[in-house]
Amino acid sequence: MPLVDNVCGDGNIVISRRDFLKKSGLLAGALAMPTLAPHSQPTEIEDESHEVVPRPSVSAASIANFVDPLPIPQVAEPSGEHPDPFHPGRSVPFYRLEMSEVFAKLHRDLKPTRIWAYGGTSPGPIIEAQSGQPLMVEWANALPKAHLFAVDHHIHGAEANKPNVRAVVHLHGAKVRPDSDGYPEDWYVPGKSLISYYPNIQDAAMLWYHDHALGITRLNVYAGLFGAYFIRDGAKRALNLPSGKYEIPLILCDRKIDSQGQVDYPAAPMFMAPWRPEFYGNAILANGKLLPFLDVEPRSYRLRVVNVSNSRFLSLSLSEQTAFIQIGSDQGLLRAPIEVTPVILAPAERADLVIDFSPEGGKKIVLNDASGPIMQFRVASLSAADPIRLPKKLRHIAPLAPSHAARTRTLTLDQYSDPSGKVMRMLLNGTHWDMPITEKPKLGSIEIWRFVNLTPDPHPIHLHLVRFQILGRRPFDLEAYRKSKTLRFVGPSIRPDPNESGWKDTVRCPPRTVTSIIARFEGFTGRYVWHCHVLEHEDNEMMRPYEVIG
Ligand code: C2O
Ligand code: CU
Ligand code: CU
Repeated sequence: MPLVDNVCGDGNIVISRRDFLKKSGLLAGALAMPTLAPHSQPTEIEDESHEVVPRPSVSAASIANFVDPLPIPQVAEPSGEHPDPFHPGRSVPFYRLEMSEVFAKLHRDLKPTRIWAYGGTSPGPIIEAQSGQPLMVEWANALPKAHLFAVDHHIHGAEANKPNVRAVVHLHGAKVRPDSDGYPEDWYVPGKSLISYYPNIQDAAMLWYHDHALGITRLNVYAGLFGAYFIRDGAKRALNLPSGKYEIPLILCDRKIDSQGQVDYPAAPMFMAPWRPEFYGNAILANGKLLPFLDVEPRSYRLRVVNVSNSRFLSLSLSEQTAFIQIGSDQGLLRAPIEVTPVILAPAERADLVIDFSPEGGKKIVLNDASGPIMQFRVASLSAADPIRLPKKLRHIAPLAPSHAARTRTLTLDQYSDPSGKVMRMLLNGTHWDMPITEKPKLGSIEIWRFVNLTPDPHPIHLHLVRFQILGRRPFDLEAYRKSKTLRFVGPSIRPDPNESGWKDTVRCPPRTVTSIIARFEGFTGRYVWHCHVLEHEDNEMMRPYEVIG
């Protein structure tokens, strides 16, 4: 019986991800040591999916590299003003962004690709906000009635009695009221819209908006529903960082693009249950383009990078030994600039990077992921501008003291397989989405959350509403835990990397490790969510509500 899962309808044997990892020796490695390395994902163009005969797809090896200019998403324009519901007598900028199906050119040599977009493009337009100045967005669902991809009706919240096309927008990293946060059950169908109020009462940072509809987030985001949102403040301007055309948003995701130029989300071979535990594409889109180039001057640039992939952990580096100086992460600037290579970004993580092209005049520098090239910088052979002298100190970040924590919660990350080893679902602390809320921090209180990873993979865990600091990661004895449910540590706690030592909203939790974070639950009371940001995991129950209580 269990064999059925490894055999397709037409009788072909397929290799599951777990088998692939076992055969390639990757699994043993992943189990043997807790690591911050990316997901045990193929670095080569390897079809490790459950597919029998993969639809031929394009990759860097099969298509012309660096022939399209890197698109820079438009900045959204407000359509007018709206009375501020929370500050009578004042008004705020009002935006209207429509979700719709469009055709986009992903590459010079590909036919237009059917995708879903906010405001007509994917990535959607950039929303520019000032810290302390609220704005409102009407998110209008004008999508077609049929989904681009197969919906798995076994997944909670995506049952056959629910419409296939539903959407709700979440602003990742934002401190907003619960009714503007894009609660996964607040989805709505084509023809409807929802207005969100964004107070922007937080420090400057790169946030991003994306779909969050229960049980189909992976499909909606994969279709193209994401975009960047910047919060600016005076402090950052005073630092004199590269700005204007020298500040480049870079929104990265992996996709599978078939030879007809269409985006493919290969379903698992079970016709009735197309959910797959992870998705890895073999082509990376930068601002919606495959393998673009950017003409740059020999001077410093600032790159604002976000990984909007479903599952892929990116590992970024530059050719020609060019260095990245990282100045910020998820929730704004770090304390000080640091040189980092490679820059690892789990899904949803951001990196604020400075690259100094001033010694590179005339060169072509490639931005690479571990899986292959992403884009090319063409440095003009002009006389070099003076390199920007980055300040030694960027920002003061006071550590949250564990002794001030009102409570510590220990929460497991779990994975369940059927007898054949096929991964069926993942849970947080052994609880399903629909079970009563168990995490109820008090407004204004500080808490420590410890994520005990019992699975063989790393998970990027994200909390809505709050920013947090990483306290450390400590390896534990998994077998002992399984037997007695007690944590027996097998090594000291490891401090977060320097580029993870600022304010975060998403944290990588390696296997066999307890990852601890500390947060103050400030802002608003009400119901929010926390979840794994591997979208396949999130959709299949690795997400839980939590409630901030007054
Ligand atoms: Cu990036 Cu719950 O979100
Ligand atoms: Cu979020
Ligand atoms: Cu996960």
